[in-house]
Amino acid sequence: MPDTTDLFADQAPLAGTRTALGPQAVVLRGWALAQAQALWDTLQAVVAQAPFRHMLTPGGQSMSVPLTNCGPLGWTSSRAGYRYRPDDPDSGQAWPAMPPAFGRLAHDAAQSAGFDGFTPDACLLNCYTPGTRLSLHQDRNERDFGWPIVSVSLGLPATFLWGGARRADPCLRVPLFHGDVAVWGGRDRLRFHGVAPIGAGQHPLTGAQRINLTFRRAG
Ligand code: SIN
Ligand code: FE2
Repeated sequence: MPDTTDLFADQAPLAGTRTALGPQAVVLRGWALAQAQALWDTLQAVVAQAPFRHMLTPGGQSMSVPLTNCGPLGWTSSRAGYRYRPDDPDSGQAWPAMPPAFGRLAHDAAQSAGFDGFTPDACLLNCYTPGTRLSLHQDRNERDFGWPIVSVSLGLPATFLWGGARRADPCLRVPLFHGDVAVWGGRDRLRFHGVAPIGAGQHPLTGAQRINLTFRRAG
């Protein structure tokens, strides 16, 4: 497993800069840094109510990255397929409410990336530990692809795989650091993307974890 020490060394100078990934896709470097501690604290309450869990893929495999949700709709996977639902299938209860600070962050990052009026109704939380990965996919279970995706990274760094419109298109390898916010929409909304296996490491806030919060307008 690669060590992430060198990745940390490169992070600080990037804060406040932007990395363009496409005509309507950008990484806002360090956008969430000032709120990271508060996001982490708030996230604990979400996870206490709806714990991270390994869902099954439609093929019946256990996903390597455990997930949970907050907001009116939550993304789920099962043998029956992928779908957004208002209730947590484990508890039968509604997903935890979207913390107002989460919604504001997503709205403001989207606006800064050129997407006005984004009010997410779904926040998917993924918990990566070293060695786990997310295979190449498109986000296409949402009703209206006119809304962007806003993705917030906390904790250990990752290599984001940023592909094209077809699965076989070459992927750019983009480092994502604690506090970075990636936004993609419009012409880039259906780009294939994934996360390479997370390297070993310890982060001061999250320990040996990377948490990703993905905000969508799903319904
Ligand atoms: C996702 O594609 O849903 C998550 C991406 C990430 O973890 O950065
Ligand atoms: Fe995705």
